[in-house]
Amino acid sequence: NPGEALKIMISGAPASGKGTQCELITQKYGLVHVAAGDLLRAEVAAGSDNGRLAKEFMEKGQLVPDEIVVMMVKERLSLPDAEENGWLLDGYPRSLSQATALKKFGFEPDLFILLEVPEDILVERVIGRRLDPVTGKIYHLKYSPPETEEIAARLTQRFDDTEEKVKLRLRTHHQNVEAVLSMFKDITVKIDGNGSKEDVFAQIDGWLTKLLEQRKATSESL
Ligand code: AP5
Repeated sequence: NPGEALKIMISGAPASGKGTQCELITQKYGLVHVAAGDLLRAEVAAGSDNGRLAKEFMEKGQLVPDEIVVMMVKERLSLPDAEENGWLLDGYPRSLSQATALKKFGFEPDLFILLEVPEDILVERVIGRRLDPVTGKIYHLKYSPPETEEIAARLTQRFDDTEEKVKLRLRTHHQNVEAVLSMFKDITVKIDGNGSKEDVFAQIDGWLTKLLEQRKATSESL
């Protein structure tokens, strides 16, 4: 729809680089980043009933039940900032039922980005990942080390970032990915996620630029 804010979904295996690319995309395009995993971790940290229940599934690398996830994402997408600036939905939908639920609420993306990365690389990325609790920035001990000693000293690790747990998360991903992709076939772009983060972003940036140009051309011809 010409003139409307962009609506993008980004998907891919655990540690394929979704969060990293979302930082770069929001910087350039000003979309509101809505990450299902971040929303869930916020519930866990708040110690709510939903958070306690969610943590049990997250620790096993399984999908948190729809009863919790669907409304949480729907409510975040319904806030005025997402409506106004457009949204970038990360890590949702992860099942056919989640995809259907969102559609029913009227949320349809313009583009579905799938990041593709070989499995041995994913495991290495998970094990080296660290997070800065102050800025929310994602680091990797080898590929994206912290800029200063001060940041290095405060980095934390996610509770599900172990080799054992990432294998469970990968299994869950493989069980569900085809069903989700089948719903977004017509608007899916597959991105080679196995380059540097700048190279991966250049590919995504190319698609988003193209999408905006197409819209501009459509609105000018109306
Ligand atoms: P979630 O938080 O979404 O985890 P995930 O899908 O496993 O993805 P990650 O956050 O691990 O990775 P990412 O792709 O964002 O990679 P990142 O950019 O950090 O979900 C966690 C759990 O919550 C799930 O297991 C499930 O239980 C639950 N959940 C979430 N959504 C749900 C839903 N919809 N329904 C039900 N349950 C749900 O990068 C990883 C590392 O690699 C970093 O260290 C980074 O610095 C590095 N890196 C990134 N890009 C590159 C590159 N190009 N080169 C080298 N290193 C790189």
